[in-house]
Amino acid sequence: MSNPHSDALVFFGATGDLAYKKIFPALQSMIKHGTLNVPVIGVAKAGWNLDQMRARAKDSLEQHGGLDAEAWPKLSGLLRYVDGDYADPATFQAVRTALGDARHPAHYLAIPPSMFETVVEQLVKSGSAKGARVIVEKPFGHDLASAQELNLILLSAFNESSIFRIDHYLAKNAVYNMVSFRFANPFLEAIWDRDHVESVQITMAENFGIQGRGAFYDPTGAIRDVIQNHIFQVMCNLAMEPPARDDSESLRDEKVKVLKSIPPIEPRDLVRGQFEGYLKEKGVAPDSKTETFAVLRLELNSWRWQGVPFYIRAGKNLPATCLEIIARFRRLPLPNIIPADSPQNYMRFRLNPATTVAMGVSVPPPIEGGKRECAELVVSRHPHPGEMEAYERVLSDAMAGDATLFARQDYVEEAWRIVDPVLKADTPIYPYAPQTWGPKEAYQSVLPTGGWHRPCIEED
Ligand code: BG6
Repeated sequence: MSNPHSDALVFFGATGDLAYKKIFPALQSMIKHGTLNVPVIGVAKAGWNLDQMRARAKDSLEQHGGLDAEAWPKLSGLLRYVDGDYADPATFQAVRTALGDARHPAHYLAIPPSMFETVVEQLVKSGSAKGARVIVEKPFGHDLASAQELNLILLSAFNESSIFRIDHYLAKNAVYNMVSFRFANPFLEAIWDRDHVESVQITMAENFGIQGRGAFYDPTGAIRDVIQNHIFQVMCNLAMEPPARDDSESLRDEKVKVLKSIPPIEPRDLVRGQFEGYLKEKGVAPDSKTETFAVLRLELNSWRWQGVPFYIRAGKNLPATCLEIIARFRRLPLPNIIPADSPQNYMRFRLNPATTVAMGVSVPPPIEGGKRECAELVVSRHPHPGEMEAYERVLSDAMAGDATLFARQDYVEEAWRIVDPVLKADTPIYPYAPQTWGPKEAYQSVLPTGGWHRPCIEED
């Protein structure tokens, strides 16, 4: 069998935050949906036993969606636990024993990338890497060179087709459904190019700060945390060409082509901000220059998009939590009966938390003598209660060997190539008040024609 289903899941970092917030709830949902029926082996160095691990899993589920009367006992029965140091071969012998007859385990490294090398080496030495898959979390490195190093470590033990790099944005329903929305609606495809689109804006706003994650966030910043990965993925779905076939590689090829068309960002095309109070957060250096907000402009030198600027904005402690895209259309020559200040057409996609597709159109004034107005034709959909959460989807797909919703090595390296120079450029950092749309400087130099669209705070 060339692409067997994983017959065990081993997850390193079992006592960590990610396991508590995302992995246990995803595992319970997988059981509910019938996609998990193999041993689940948690590994950590916490001095715990299996009962403590089960108690942690139960607590996690109670806090995140609730215990399911049928699925929880099954999950509890599938759980195993191995306690030990990742540098100690005995830990991996214990993993091997816990794997029993499993021949195609999936090893999920829910641990900091600095530990990947040790764990991968030990997996190889203990015979647990053979026939296995490996699942890793973003960020994949902190720049191009470290991403390449990380890839070499993973490739020393696994084929590219066995490496699953999670970017959970790819697995959000609204994000991957954008691709089919684009290609299933010919009216849009006919105008989705440089002849019709004037500019594109992508805003990922979060109305909360760094939530106690200073130790992670301070060496990372907004560009590495969400722009280089989550937002670039969204941009690729917006900008890519239709894939030649429906297999995972054809689709991933098209995304890589989008990134290849983008030159590295120039420092003049970036403005960074930091919310006031950030320096007092736990784990943050007192003189930190890390950005919690960034706006930038990209060029896509592709046949379809050349000359259409793509603007990206992301930040913590902004007035709303949402992911919103605005594609503004060029004006046509206006006949004399339509005034020149008539509103421009646009498409608006809101992808998080609810999904909205809206078309901004110019309508006559409500009273004679007034100005033409902009009205929206809107379709909005709230997540269905039975809908798969992103983490459930990525874990189910990785165990089934479907790589479509994962970042490929060439994609990751292209994404770093684009941001690498500005990460090293030491551009100024401007303060902004929490719950505002970032520093005023951001709206001076990196400004779309017609200005930034302001996402509606109350929409979802
Ligand atoms: C994570 C980032 O990858 O994505 C966080 O590290 C960010 O800083 C989060 O808040 C956003 O994900 P979601 O699914 O909550 O929109």
